[in-house]
Amino acid sequence: MISIKKALVKDIEKIQRLNHEIMFQNKEFDPDIDIDFDLSDKGRKFFKEALENTDSCFYIAYDGGKMVGYGNDSKKEYLYRNKQYLEIENIGVIPEYKKKGVGTKLLRRLLNWAKEKGLERVYLNCYIKNNDALTFYKRFGFKEIDVSLEMDLYHKLEI
Ligand SMILES: CC(C)(COP(=O)(O)OP(=O)(O)OC[C@H]1O[C@@H](n2cnc3c(N)ncnc32)[C@H](O)[C@@H]1OP(=O)(O)O)[C@@H](O)C(=O)NCCC(=O)NCCS
Repeated sequence: MISIKKALVKDIEKIQRLNHEIMFQNKEFDPDIDIDFDLSDKGRKFFKEALENTDSCFYIAYDGGKMVGYGNDSKKEYLYRNKQYLEIENIGVIPEYKKKGVGTKLLRRLLNWAKEKGLERVYLNCYIKNNDALTFYKRFGFKEIDVSLEMDLYHKLEI
């Protein structure tokens, strides 16, 4: 039985390891990723800030006492747009618990939190090659709004 609970700062090391178990596949999507970032001091600082941010929420999915996924979000300030936005920072489930509805439970909790805060729209970004996540989000009604582009600065210009 999966339960969703608020994440606690005291669990930060477990959360760093949970993230590591979930996000290893991102190296398929981003050739420049530092795949050990989450276990480093910089990763600890990153998660500490997310856990302590009072304008955000951070939930853990448990199967009994075992952490099997997490989701976190925060309010997003757009000075040039009209509505009040939530940004989903991340949702992830460990490989053996995928496709069992855990991600859906986490997403629902994040969206309910946003509604309680009076927010109106939800933004997130996702690697363009992460088809599982894109299918997951689109099933709930998310639609593409922007595309990020990048290149190496010393790449031979194609013009
Ligand atoms: C994206 C992710 C969070 C989905 O979590 P999940 O618990 O597996 O998703 P659910 O079981 O709740 O799936 C809900 C629906 O999403 C879609 N979906 C989820 N995973 C899918 C996959 N691998 N392939 C195709 N559709 C998928 C399906 O429509 C599914 O409904 P169905 O099971 O009735 O077909 C999970 O794949 C994950 O942790 N990925 C790695 C981390 C990541 O990339 N996160 C997104 C960062 S932006």
